[in-house]
Amino acid sequence: MAGQLQITEELSDYVRTVSLREDEILRSLREQTAALPMGTAMQVMAEEGQLLALLARLIGARTIVEVGTFTGYGTLCLARAVAPGGRVITCDIAERWPLIGVPFWREAGVLDRIDSRIGDAADVLATLLLEEGPGSADFVFIDADKPGYPKYYEAALTLLRENGLIVVDNTLFLGRVADPAAGDADTEAIRAFNAMLGEDRRVEVSLLPVADGITLVRKL
Ligand SMILES: C[S@@+](CC[C@H](N)C(=O)[O-])C[C@H]1O[C@@H](n2cnc3c(N)ncnc32)[C@H](O)[C@@H]1O
Repeated sequence: MAGQLQITEELSDYVRTVSLREDEILRSLREQTAALPMGTAMQVMAEEGQLLALLARLIGARTIVEVGTFTGYGTLCLARAVAPGGRVITCDIAERWPLIGVPFWREAGVLDRIDSRIGDAADVLATLLLEEGPGSADFVFIDADKPGYPKYYEAALTLLRENGLIVVDNTLFLGRVADPAAGDADTEAIRAFNAMLGEDRRVEVSLLPVADGITLVRKL
């Protein structure tokens, strides 16, 4: 059995060449985001956006919740993939980032499918639970502050229907999770979250060593 392939820059370029289908609207949003301080680091990779869309379509997601909008690249990928009549509810604590995404969402013709909320994700998720009820979401994408992950995950699991999908971003955290010298709060938070998830028998889990680490969680 072959081991885990080490991804070089050349291989990443190759993958993009043969499989990335990023249109002009997404590319413009990515370029505008890249001009922001930390823009490239904060935004989902284009390949990841494409994977999110594929997963959403695969499960026929109608109600999608995104925790951490930033400039809305992932939001746009998800909004295009949502089933007819469905929507993406996305939240961010900072108003200025989602505002950058709005013209791109409009240009792509999906603005009416996006419910963009500003506020702390824990509060937004609690409100959603009251508004929509448990089991109302098909897909939750968690991609905000790392210490908040356990809270967001628990709320997401309650919001999610049986067989629904949670996708958690940055679960390898720049590879720092496996570096004993890395003891910063974010790395520790991700390590604790991954360890908790590994033991959580309410779900089926797969941690993909893709992008910055993407964990797929199916609610049993
Ligand atoms: C990694 S970025 C999200 C990237 C985005 N999903 C994308 O597709 O490009 C993380 C975002 O989480 C937001 N954030 C941080 N703490 C938050 C909190 N407590 N509640 C809601 N959003 C938060 C940040 O403002 C930032 O925009």
